[in-house]
Amino acid sequence: MRPEVFVTRRLPALALEELSQSCQVDMWDHESPPPPYETIVARTRDKEGLLCLLTDRIDAALMDAAPGLKVISQCAVGYDNIDIQAARARHIAVGNTPGVLTEATADFAFALLMASARRIGEAIDYVRNGDWKTWGLTILLGQDVHRATLGIVGMGRIGQALARRAEGFEMRVLYSDVARQPSLEARLGVEYAAFDDLLQQADFVSLHVNLTPQTTGLIGSRELALMKQNAILINTSRGQVVDPQALYQALKSGRIAGAALDVTDPEPLPPDHRLLSLPNLIVAPHIASATESTRGRMALMAVHNLIAGLEGNPLPNPVSG
Ligand code: DGY
Repeated sequence: MRPEVFVTRRLPALALEELSQSCQVDMWDHESPPPPYETIVARTRDKEGLLCLLTDRIDAALMDAAPGLKVISQCAVGYDNIDIQAARARHIAVGNTPGVLTEATADFAFALLMASARRIGEAIDYVRNGDWKTWGLTILLGQDVHRATLGIVGMGRIGQALARRAEGFEMRVLYSDVARQPSLEARLGVEYAAFDDLLQQADFVSLHVNLTPQTTGLIGSRELALMKQNAILINTSRGQVVDPQALYQALKSGRIAGAALDVTDPEPLPPDHRLLSLPNLIVAPHIASATESTRGRMALMAVHNLIAGLEGNPLPNPVSG
């Protein structure tokens, strides 16, 4: 008998095909709306495996309702939606998809940086709204990216990939992290800076930390007040790392020049949220890893984790937290 699994969202064809060869698949066959929490609980109840996304709350109650659950396979690198301690206590293996989305996410962080620095969102609106009447010396002035200072908060895989992109723009790159990494400094030509020093010196601050109790609200009024007035904040990590009220005030008052977010708090951001009234803010709908090939590889990796665990093997990518 093939083990039964619940998949909380539509999977790319190749990944679904591979999973179906080893498992009996019950899939929520939509992208939107997502399955409500109660539905995930109900459809996981009698399953041995669960393949889920970062928007699904996977807590102790859900695990208790599914006594046969052996593996939770998250199709994302971040897994702050899963109660890892609860899974560990119940001997449920948990896997994620690190590595395969590094380059796509760094591409997108750099795209947000460029778009915000050169006011591309505003420029598109300007043309579409019929405001483009002439060429002028002071119209839609942005900021230089080349030779500017980039501050990377969290120098893991994605932070390092962003630093490699910045090199091509001759940027000075500062990084802050829990520990200094001298080998990286030599290899990537980056400089370590204490968090506050980085905030004070960077023209662009890009966030690449995991969401933990320590990083929740990492960027609030105090941190925004330390940043340069021309600074731009980029967030492709998790929305809760930035205090949205503090960010609104900083952008509205001109305390910092702009921000570009791929992740928000709350997520999704309601269309009438006051942050969306700000011209100096770009918001994307959490799509940094959204390329055809990257999402395909993430799904396959999640499927491989799930199958390995169900066969009683170590997961190729178990979560480390
Ligand atoms: C992740 O994997 O954690 C990203 O946020 C989505 O790709």
